[in-house]
Amino acid sequence: MLQNKVLGTALVLGIAAVLSLSGDAQIKKGKTRPLTTKQMMNGLVKLHCGGLAEGLKTAPADDKGWEELATKAALLNEAGYILMEDDRCPDADWANAAKQLREGSADVLAKLEAKDHAGASEAFKAVTGSCAACHKVHKK
Ligand code: HEC
Repeated sequence: MLQNKVLGTALVLGIAAVLSLSGDAQIKKGKTRPLTTKQMMNGLVKLHCGGLAEGLKTAPADDKGWEELATKAALLNEAGYILMEDDRCPDADWANAAKQLREGSADVLAKLEAKDHAGASEAFKAVTGSCAACHKVHKK
């Protein structure tokens, strides 16, 4: 009886350890692809979010300027999809924040395509809101 109890406890602890490991792995990296969340944040998300924030300070002066901002918004939008792939997403908080990133960046993109600077700046608030929503729960 005692042996069974000890075995049972060991089993439960073992399962808990495996679960907590895979839970961690999902947040910091997907299951099969090499890109870590940290690399994605620095090289894709932060890069283009910062670039948009900087670029939106004043209305672009020419077509090239609008196109450069549109490229950043489109890549941020793509990041919102990548965040959901390869079993990286751990829960609904993550999924909702990724959705907000996709929707917010799609709105920014639409305003940029219409060369609506004020509209793009307003829509950009939802993008930065998505960063905070996910980080509050998942960034240690
Ligand atoms: C769906 C979740 C999610 C969203 C949305 C998100 N992040 Fe992150 N971010 C994370 C997680 C998780 C980490 C911690 C990664 C780690 O340390 O392994 C992180 C870390 C970071 C870091 C620190 C990287 C480092 O070197 O440690 C930066 C910068 C960052 N995010 C920027 C952003 C910006 C800007 C946005 C919004 C445009 C954003 N993130 C949106 C999940 C998210």
